[in-house]
Amino acid sequence: MKRFEGTSIAITESKSGSERVFLSRVDFTARCHSQMEKEERALRKNLFVILAIVALFASSQIVSAQDSLYKRLGGYDALAAVTDKFIARLATDKQLGRFFVGASDDSKKRIRQLLLDQLCAATGGPCVYLGRDMKTAHKGLGITESDWDIGIRHLVATLDEFKVPKREKDEVLSALSTLKKDIVEK
Ligand code: HEM
Repeated sequence: MKRFEGTSIAITESKSGSERVFLSRVDFTARCHSQMEKEERALRKNLFVILAIVALFASSQIVSAQDSLYKRLGGYDALAAVTDKFIARLATDKQLGRFFVGASDDSKKRIRQLLLDQLCAATGGPCVYLGRDMKTAHKGLGITESDWDIGIRHLVATLDEFKVPKREKDEVLSALSTLKKDIVEK
């Protein structure tokens, strides 16, 4: 039998002259242990790398009080989701639905995108609003004080649905209130 130093491989010669390679039980157990230790070390290293990535990601997600309203609201996708819900509510409202009757899908998409751009830009996001000013866009629609109140109620309900905190909700509502004089005609 030949045993190779530093390895757990032993070779025995059989009667027929052919060689058999085998691992003794002790060698095998030792090999298993060292293999397990190696794997454990690799696992620990991987775990550390994963934790570091998670920590880095989490720190980039932390929103501070000094951040723009845009960021505190959750950024573009969050604003887009709020916009979609808000428009759906306006368009299906009994009293406000009349403003959207006859609008093609494309026109609705256009209004949706412009509203989103406007909200994004007004809250400090990286968007540019290229639509018309509020007075021009709503002139002749005959939006009443009552229409406005219903619209605001839908907006509040939408923000609540998305669990927007009170501070951010108040900031959105106070920014919108400045537009009322340009939108309400009656
Ligand atoms: C009850 C309230 C409101 C009603 C019924 C209403 C209705 C409408 C309608 C029917 C249009 C399409 C006009 C057209 O293309 O001929 C429009 C456009 C638009 N509205 Fe309003 N709106 C309301 C409030 C608001 C508010 C509060 C904002 C801003 C936050 C807003 C932002 C816009 C924008 C950005 C456009 C597109 C402007 C453009 O075409 O260049 N609207 N709105």
